[in-house]
Amino acid sequence: MPKTLGPLIIGDREIPIPIVQGGMGVQVSTAALAGAVAECGAVGTIAGVGLGYGTEENDTDYPSASRRALQEEIRKAKAMTKGFVGVNLLGALSNFDDLARTAAASGADFIASGAGLPLCLPALTEGFRTLLLPIVSSARAAAIIIKAWKKRYGRIPDGFIVEGPLAGGHLGFKPEELRPPRPGRLEADVLEVLAVTRDCERETGARVPVIAAGGIFDGKDAARFFAMGARGVQIATRLVATVECSVAQAFKELYLKARPEDLVIIESPVGMPGRAIRTRLVDRVLAGERVPFKCGYQCLRTCSPATAPYCIAQAMFNAVAGALDNAVVFAGHNVSRVQEIVPVRQVLECMVREARQALHGLSEAPHAV
Ligand SMILES: Cc1cc2nc3c(=O)[nH]c(=O)nc-3n(C[C@H](O)[C@H](O)[C@H](O)COP(=O)(O)O)c2cc1C
Repeated sequence: MPKTLGPLIIGDREIPIPIVQGGMGVQVSTAALAGAVAECGAVGTIAGVGLGYGTEENDTDYPSASRRALQEEIRKAKAMTKGFVGVNLLGALSNFDDLARTAAASGADFIASGAGLPLCLPALTEGFRTLLLPIVSSARAAAIIIKAWKKRYGRIPDGFIVEGPLAGGHLGFKPEELRPPRPGRLEADVLEVLAVTRDCERETGARVPVIAAGGIFDGKDAARFFAMGARGVQIATRLVATVECSVAQAFKELYLKARPEDLVIIESPVGMPGRAIRTRLVDRVLAGERVPFKCGYQCLRTCSPATAPYCIAQAMFNAVAGALDNAVVFAGHNVSRVQEIVPVRQVLECMVREARQALHGLSEAPHAV
């Protein structure tokens, strides 16, 4: 039972605050948020999906626009801080390989990748010191990645992010597992992934930290996962309601107003369900309407633009631009707990204080496990 909050050690890097800011596309977690989080001593993540959206070049050359925008966001974040800043990439992206190579070559400290097993990631980042963190929603996925990476590349992941069903954004679960989400699922998954990583650590002598994500809102929530053996927690929803997050004010205010009953699970052209706050667009999609769109570049391998119910990239971009009627605004199950817009530092300091108190309380309890 840890009495104090340890640093999060990933590869050769020691991160003082063991809190990871989860990647949030499209353009929710840009350098502005990631750099601010890293500067506080936690982990900042730039979401690599849809960064070129809204630029002129995007309409003529999507891959170049995405690549250039990613290089620029990494440069900006690195200019803000010497802290730990990486990139999140969805496995379903058509230009995944290009963006993974670009992130590594541009000095991203790590790549976190979910929405599909990132089996080729080590090959794409070879020769760079970029640390690799697969995002999984089951111990089975973690075990498959470890086995494949060992066999193909003679290496293992530098850690795992385990994302449960209470998270925001796209979710690695079946819609029926999310309506309503089962409490305790993340806890069970974290314990199972820990069993897999401990075997791997014993066998290889390397450290494979596990980071829990999805529905963790305060330090008390975080302490539960630290007490289980997780070395870090990932949060996202709470960090949208910060001064530094670069989304439109209307997006943040929607978070402040959101009640539990405003959240729905929608199907997405990504091929996974997602948790979002109801908007006019979301209601139309849920009613079975198809919202036609023009597609200049098929940005998702999983999307079929001729039949997709709506364009997820455009809908997410509308959200950050504040055009909420035509937007998909992703949010975690706990969004109704968001009460105010505060600086990033305040969120992180508050969580650390609460987690320390909770861990101390747990270790003092007579029947603490
Ligand atoms: C607005 C929003 C966008 C997100 N976009 C992504 C994304 O592009 N890639 C990804 O792996 N996860 C994405 N997520 C999931 C987060 O990175 C994170 O793991 C999760 O939301 C953590 O749970 P919490 O929101 O309850 O703190 C998104 C979440 C939100 C709220």
